[in-house]
Amino acid sequence: MRAAFASAFNDDDPLAALTVGDRPEPEQPDDWVTVEVRASSLNHHDLWSLRGVGLSAERLPMILGCDAAGVDPAGNDVVVYPLVADPGDPRGASILSEHYQGTFAERVAVPRGNLLPKPAGLSFTDAACLPTAWLTAYRMLTTKGRVDSADAVLVQGAGGGVATAAVVLAVALGKRVYATSRDAAKRERIAQLGATALEPGARLPERVDVVIETVGAATFDHSLKSAAPGARIVVSGATAGHEPKVNLRRVFAMQLEIVGTSMGTPDELAALLRLCAERDIRPVVDDVYGFSEVTAAFARLHSGDVFGKVVLDHTR
Ligand SMILES: NC(=O)c1ccc[n+]([C@@H]2O[C@H](COP(=O)([O-])OP(=O)(O)OC[C@H]3O[C@@H](n4cnc5c(N)ncnc54)[C@H](OP(=O)(O)O)[C@@H]3O)[C@@H](O)[C@H]2O)c1
Repeated sequence: MRAAFASAFNDDDPLAALTVGDRPEPEQPDDWVTVEVRASSLNHHDLWSLRGVGLSAERLPMILGCDAAGVDPAGNDVVVYPLVADPGDPRGASILSEHYQGTFAERVAVPRGNLLPKPAGLSFTDAACLPTAWLTAYRMLTTKGRVDSADAVLVQGAGGGVATAAVVLAVALGKRVYATSRDAAKRERIAQLGATALEPGARLPERVDVVIETVGAATFDHSLKSAAPGARIVVSGATAGHEPKVNLRRVFAMQLEIVGTSMGTPDELAALLRLCAERDIRPVVDDVYGFSEVTAAFARLHSGDVFGKVVLDHTR
C-alpha cells in the first residue's frame, strides 16, 4: 500500500528523511482492526520524528502520522484515538508512528478499543484534525487548565495546530482570549476567530487565569508575567526550546501552577467530538492536500507559516 514514512533521520533537513512509496499491509494482532484511512492530518510530531526525536533508528522504516479518520471493517465511520498501550514505553503508551505504524497510509491497524464513532456532521477531513492537536488543546484547557473557573486565557504562538484549537475552544467556552503570534497576517486571522491578537511579549490588558504554552523558551517569560495569581500555565510542547529561564520568585509569589500535559484520554476525545458536533465547532484548517501531495504538505508544515491544521485527503 502507498504510505509516507521515515526512512532515515535528518535534523537539519527533516524533509530529506521523508519517503513516499510502498509499504507492506499493516499487521493485525488479535483484537486489532484495520481502518481504511479517508483523511489524516499532520502534526509537528511528524517533523520531530523525521529529525529522530521520539523515534529510534531500529524502528525505521516507520509510517508517519498520528491522526486519522476512516472506515472500519464493518463499514462504520470512525475516528482513531492515537495512543496505544505499550509496556515497552516508560509512559505506558506510545503514539502511533513511534512504536506502531502510523496513519499516513491507505490503511492503519489499531486496537479495536481505539475506534470512536465519527459524528455524522463532521467531515472526514475535519475529524482527522481532532485526535492529537485538538485533543491536546482540549485537555490543556479543561482537565489541566480548569478553564471553567477562568475568565481569561492566553494562547502563545497562535498560528500552530494546538494553538488555533485552543483559541477556538476557549472562545466557544465563553472566555476572553488573548493570543500572540509573530506574524501580522496570522494575528489578523486570530482576531477573526474571536481572540485579541498581540505581538509576542506584548503587555496584556489584564492578567489571565490559564496560559496555553506550546512554544517554550521564546515565550515562557511572557507567560509567567501575564499570569494572574493562582493561574495555570499549561505546557504541552516546546517548539522554540525546552530550557527557558524561569523566574521562580514569580512562581511562588503568585502561587502559579506550571502543569505539564500530553495528549488526552479516549473519554476526553469522545467529549471533544461531542462538543464539536453539538456546538458546530470546526477545526481551523490551513489547507487540505491530496495524499499524492504529501511531500508538499510536509513542506508547508515545515515552513512554520501555517495557520491551523495541514490535512491529507486520502481519497485523492
Ligand atoms: N505533548 C503533547 O501531547 C503534544 C501534542 C501536540 C503537540 N505538541 C507539541 O506542541 C508544539 C506545537 O505543535 P503543533 O502541532 O501545534 O505545531 P505547529 O502547528 O507547527 O505550530 C507551532 C507554532 O509555534 C509558534 N512558534 C514556533 N517557533 C516560535 C518562536 N521561535 N517564537 C514564537 N513562536 C514560535 C508558531 O506560532 P506563530 O507563527 O503564530 O508565532 C507556530 O505556528 C510542538 O512542539 C509539538 O511537538 C505536544
